[in-house]
Amino acid sequence: MPTRSIVAGCGAYLPSRILSNADLARKLETSDEWIVQRTGIRERRIAAEGEVTSDLAIRSAEGALKNAGMSGNDIDLIVVATSTPDETFPATATRVQAALGMTRGVAFDVQAVCSGFVFALAVADNFIKAGQARTALVIGAETFSRILDWTDRTTCVLFGDGAGAVVLVAGEGSGGKDDRGVLSTHIFSDGRYHDMLYVDGGPSSTVTTGHLRMEGREVFRHAVVKLAEAVDAAIAANGITAAEIDWLVPHQANRRIIDGMGHRLGLPPEKVVLTIDRHANTSAASIPLAMAEAAADGRIRPGHLVLLEAMGGGFTWGSALLRW
Ligand code: ACO
Repeated sequence: MPTRSIVAGCGAYLPSRILSNADLARKLETSDEWIVQRTGIRERRIAAEGEVTSDLAIRSAEGALKNAGMSGNDIDLIVVATSTPDETFPATATRVQAALGMTRGVAFDVQAVCSGFVFALAVADNFIKAGQARTALVIGAETFSRILDWTDRTTCVLFGDGAGAVVLVAGEGSGGKDDRGVLSTHIFSDGRYHDMLYVDGGPSSTVTTGHLRMEGREVFRHAVVKLAEAVDAAIAANGITAAEIDWLVPHQANRRIIDGMGHRLGLPPEKVVLTIDRHANTSAASIPLAMAEAAADGRIRPGHLVLLEAMGGGFTWGSALLRW
């Protein structure tokens, strides 16, 4: 009997401070109309002073554990996807591990920018399938507000802070598409695209922190192609048709990209989970935040087929298909 990684619980956390488009338009040459029309974003959350990525990650993890009816010491593996760790080292995941009172197992970070959650899910799923973990917490947590150039209207209006988490537990399946759990993950990268989306600083660079830089139009163009590649891979590997998908939970970077993917799959808008209007792009956190919301309000239910897709700096991109 093949092992499957089954979602046992979800959690989410958003900082309380809301920054609206109107707030931004008071400081920058931009407008609510431009931002909504080009991106679908209306507002974003911003972490409080002193509130760091692990604080967000811990709150979302506590929610996911509660939802799963489990505690920290029930977890074998924590994978945190983040590009905005608290510190250069150690891994933000170890902070989460300590805060959850988990004194066993292993915790580490993965870095794939906006594709981070799909990469972390792939890592955790493979640990579970290999028998190296029976339970895992997969978290996407970011404080992009700390790496934005707040004078650059072409980037700073696009991002927000937040965290989302899922608990995975090992279960048995038949190996077919009707199994519950993660049915497939497909992850990709191509480092030749570095200059289109990066942070111009870091611990081994002259500038030790830096700011996010993006060729938005070029990223948009590549995103459409690469997301289609990742989604097609998931559909082909599982022998499903797009019509079988109950929910598309995309990375929330741009409403136009999301609508384009929904349209390409022939999915009606009500089958696409959208949070970009309220959360903006929270990078690795956007998918687990959206999943947690749709699971909590009863849209995603046991047995539903859920497709995740993301694309981000690197470039990195990927998809995951799971049955709830
Ligand atoms: N307010 C008002 N005007 C603006 C703003 C703003 N905030 N930002 C840019 N403009 C102007 C530009 O200066 C430009 O003016 P010009 O025509 O006089 O030169 C005009 O608006 C159009 O700019 P474009 O960049 O062509 O606008 P576009 O329609 O491409 O939208 C956007 C820009 C929203 C960034 C879009 O390209 C996008 O979403 N790209 C993809 C982002 C993405 O998917 N990223 C991947 C994940 S992110 C990660 O991994 C961290």
